[in-house]
Amino acid sequence: ILKMTELDLAGKRVLIREDLNVPIKDGKVTSDARIRAALPTIKAAVAAGAKVMVMSHLGRPTEGQYAEEFSLQPVVNYLLENTDLKVRLVQDYIAGVEAQAGEVLILENVRFNVGESADDETLAKKYAALCDIYVMDAFGTAHRAQASTHGVGVFAPVACGGPLLIGELDALGKALHNPKRPLVAIVGGSKVSTKLTVLDALSKIADQLVVGGGISNTFVAARGYNVGRSLHEADLIPEAKRLMDLLDIPETVDVRVGKNFNESEPAVIKDVSEVQDDEEIMDYGPQTAENVAAVLKSAKTILWNGPCGVFEFDNFAKGTEVVARAIADSDAFSIAGGGDTLAAIDKWDLSDKISYISTGGGAFLEFVEGKELPAVAMLEARAAK
Ligand code: 3PG
Repeated sequence: ILKMTELDLAGKRVLIREDLNVPIKDGKVTSDARIRAALPTIKAAVAAGAKVMVMSHLGRPTEGQYAEEFSLQPVVNYLLENTDLKVRLVQDYIAGVEAQAGEVLILENVRFNVGESADDETLAKKYAALCDIYVMDAFGTAHRAQASTHGVGVFAPVACGGPLLIGELDALGKALHNPKRPLVAIVGGSKVSTKLTVLDALSKIADQLVVGGGISNTFVAARGYNVGRSLHEADLIPEAKRLMDLLDIPETVDVRVGKNFNESEPAVIKDVSEVQDDEEIMDYGPQTAENVAAVLKSAKTILWNGPCGVFEFDNFAKGTEVVARAIADSDAFSIAGGGDTLAAIDKWDLSDKISYISTGGGAFLEFVEGKELPAVAMLEARAAK
């Protein structure tokens, strides 16, 4: 892949695709992790004397229809408040727009444009006409073949990878392709079904697999225990059994249960064999969390995606906290990815202690699954020409 850092950007019209798809509440950015990750790229382009334009999607609006709730204005406000960049939001840019050297134009949500999601060629050519150099830096959206992540790069005069994208590919490649062993993967979250391909992929490369959250409830059910009203997927019990045969998966021995799914529900600690029909498993029990922490302690590489319980509720956050702290304290090369995982890391302020935090959610999972990311494939194809 051609790298942005190898190019002379001075005086050039540089169009950077970032993933600024950040959570927003009441018009304010509530997690700035993706913006912070994109800033070094944007600042480097400005410092190099480029005429910088940045584009991104935000959420999933209906194409062809402006909707304020999906505007990038809150991101622009964040940049104005927290950086000294000269930033401005541009609504109409498809027919042509040019930045001045020293300023940064943020192009309004690309998903307002008809043809964006379908990777429409006409739209991609219009984006390409805006620039001399296209920089694909949105690792979080690299698994989407859309006009702003893929098509534009096919038609732009020059297409290259930005430092964030390159950094993500390097870090994830290091963890997956030639990891220091043991490699322990920890996969939490609500459903086995949405993570089945990633669990399968990990079953081939990880030395140990730890499951958490709703996913581990399905494994508990597969061992023949009553899971009461817990989130689980009965139809995936055979898959859970298959994975348990393949791999060393630490067993859930105790759990924290509640009768109601809400913030003030007290957590009751129980042996895994004692869950009642009207109870819901919402977290690991202390012994299970300790066992998992011990497994993590022996790891040389750790890959983490998905919380181990309902960590948004303080009474059911302990399992995820123990895991997060064990990863933070470990000397292993640790990688974490996914929105909930990042929120958990932020909750206990541990981001400095994780070796690498990926900005990818879906893209992170697809990379781990060994799938080709279309935006990366496009950059490779251009580099091969
Ligand atoms: C993400 O949040 O995973 C990326 O920004 C991609 O968003 P999408 O799933 O709406 O394409």
